[in-house]
Amino acid sequence: MVRLRKTRAEVEGRWREEYVAEEEERVKSWRREQRFNYVGGRVRAVDGPAKVTGRAIYTADVALPGMLVGRFLRCPYPHARILSIDTSHAERIPGVRAVYTHLNTPKIPWHTGMSYLMDTTLRYPGEEVAFVVAEDEAAAEDALDSIYVEYERLPHVVDPLEAMREEAPKIHEGGNVFGGGPSRHRRGSLEKGLQEASVVIEDEFRTSPALHNSLETHGCVAYWHSQGLTVWESTQAIHNVRQRLSEVFSLPLSAVRVICEYMGGGFGAKFDPGKHTVMAALASRATGRPVKVILDRTEENLVSGCRAPSIQRVKAGFRRDGRLVALGLEAIINLGAYASWVPLVSGPYRMLYNIPNLETVEWGVFTNTIPHTAMRAPGFTEGAFGLESVMDMGAEELGLDPLAIRLTNYAETEPDTGLPYTSKALREAYTAGAEAFGWSKLRTPVRSGKTVRGVGMASVVWWGGGGPPAYAEVKLNRDGTVTVLTATQDIGTGTRTILAQIAAEELGIPVERVNVLLGDTALELFSPGSGGSGTLASMGPAVRAAAFDAKMQLLEIATQFVDAPLEILEIRDGQIQTVGGERSMRVEELLRRLGDFAIVGRGARGPNPDGRAIETFAAQFAEVEVDVETGKVRVLRIVSAHDSGRIINKMLAEGQVAGGVVQALGYALLEQRVVEPDTGTVLNPNLADYLLPTSLEATEIEAVFVEPEDLLANNLGAKGLGEPPIIGAAAAIANAIAHATGVRIKELPITPEKIVRELKKSLAR
Ligand code: MOS
Repeated sequence: MVRLRKTRAEVEGRWREEYVAEEEERVKSWRREQRFNYVGGRVRAVDGPAKVTGRAIYTADVALPGMLVGRFLRCPYPHARILSIDTSHAERIPGVRAVYTHLNTPKIPWHTGMSYLMDTTLRYPGEEVAFVVAEDEAAAEDALDSIYVEYERLPHVVDPLEAMREEAPKIHEGGNVFGGGPSRHRRGSLEKGLQEASVVIEDEFRTSPALHNSLETHGCVAYWHSQGLTVWESTQAIHNVRQRLSEVFSLPLSAVRVICEYMGGGFGAKFDPGKHTVMAALASRATGRPVKVILDRTEENLVSGCRAPSIQRVKAGFRRDGRLVALGLEAIINLGAYASWVPLVSGPYRMLYNIPNLETVEWGVFTNTIPHTAMRAPGFTEGAFGLESVMDMGAEELGLDPLAIRLTNYAETEPDTGLPYTSKALREAYTAGAEAFGWSKLRTPVRSGKTVRGVGMASVVWWGGGGPPAYAEVKLNRDGTVTVLTATQDIGTGTRTILAQIAAEELGIPVERVNVLLGDTALELFSPGSGGSGTLASMGPAVRAAAFDAKMQLLEIATQFVDAPLEILEIRDGQIQTVGGERSMRVEELLRRLGDFAIVGRGARGPNPDGRAIETFAAQFAEVEVDVETGKVRVLRIVSAHDSGRIINKMLAEGQVAGGVVQALGYALLEQRVVEPDTGTVLNPNLADYLLPTSLEATEIEAVFVEPEDLLANNLGAKGLGEPPIIGAAAAIANAIAHATGVRIKELPITPEKIVRELKKSLAR
């Protein structure tokens, strides 16, 4: 019998309650002593050849007969109202098939009701003003040039502190503060804690708006045909896109199909359909032709979101032994022009250490800048920079080792909720990371000529437990191959490969014979968005359960062929055999004999355990070399030691760590959107002037996995890994720079100019 059970699941700190169909718990968690054939190793990415040979089909590759091209006209100002708009010239250009403005676009609420799909008030540079569809790009571009818009400029504000002032220009009717006030959280008494402290550090930290810069920009192909709407979208969440489109167009879910076979990253910016998606669908409905919209790099930079910049005012009280007895945070978070949530900058402050007295106050503030979106560990990456800088400042003041002070404040239970963890091996990550890095030998800065070397570290906490609902099917085909079906998507992390490994492991069938079909809502096997480091922990257990179901069906049939009871049958390396190996039969032979009868196993993600916190941890170590004349920083080495539970594929996991660390390196040293305050103009909306780390800056990165199998979290024992690698690395680099130079930069990115300025100041003292 199927029972419904309520469970809690989280994506990036936003909790939701879910009902899950709880079947009899048939699949037991893999134990530590489990011997694996396909899980845990360095299985090559199953789609690697398709990607490197260019055969993988991305959204931008989709070309349909009769396809039109869509382009947006965008507002050049940070804050303006459209007084009039004339599209008559544009409409007469040969090849132009439709022109949309607020005058002929349905009034569809956008940004959770803060604006419309095509609004008359524009609140940041790049916001959509008109949309053109044409036979080709050139005609579309000509049409955009021929639209005449009369704007009324409105006063704008780009600085969050200014935006909070009474006299600041109002961006929304409800004012510039999200929710009308800050969100507060406390435990114990900050005042009392500060009185107990022998050292109090009080300082301010600033983090910058980092852009996602996915290799693939946002885009779609929308085709409104006789059965409904089909959309190819570069998205982290095909089901989310389908849900939203069905709402916007009042279509049943079954009439909307969303496809994302391959995608070039999202990092949090691709959870929802964009204006490009809805406009393309509208235009396809009107013209009867498929419409393709792919944002160019400038558009991607201007409108696809960013990590929200933050100001963190921190007060930390340490006892002489390094115990952090009081911690206060006031954060001002620049949300940009629209937001439906505020990233949890307080996350690490609340969750990383065992702090008896804590008070956090977070203000989300609207400004006339690009709306923020989730970006790889939103809030935590920002917060870790402030908190982990303060930890080092405390250690320095007290003459303690940075690693020791973190161990002194180690949390044995989840500090924010008081719950026990399903598993926590941060201590092991500290030890293994420090060992691999050589921490204890490197604690004296080394000067040679005009360069000086130093080391720093930081701790990481994040979620990543995943959860239901997530469904999968595993088909055993008559040719002896296996098909895993799930309607999840592979954001680029290697979801296809790990799901193939999990199915292969459970079935005892070589991974080369497993195909994974995903990225299509038509499969009707609901799966969550690829985010919150939760894809593996959500989808993997469902696939394993489905494979188990298929295996049991196969073995039951096998009893009749092999003439042995079920209890003594197993599958090894594609062979069904009795435990001792006396009698056997190849899986493909059995399946061939079954003919057209297909075995289909079904699996669902079970509930998360009640009363437990599922969290991931890491300890990150950095060695840097600073030129004290030019302020130029070279990151020599990063060691990133992770507790993400069991690792399903070491090679792909190392890829996740490398990617996160390189992004963090950019966050630490290079990346900055430059906004000219007087005009609100973004001065570097391109990849030439927005500095990303390249192979020149990328460094030696060593990933260490401590791998405590988490028997309580799910049947794999695995936790997430996508986000943790970015969280602490910028703080570790900042700490290493401070260790090397003796000056601490409290504002990201840590540019050569800032270092030289501080070095000069310190010389003058
Ligand atoms: Mo989300 S920031 O894509 O995990």
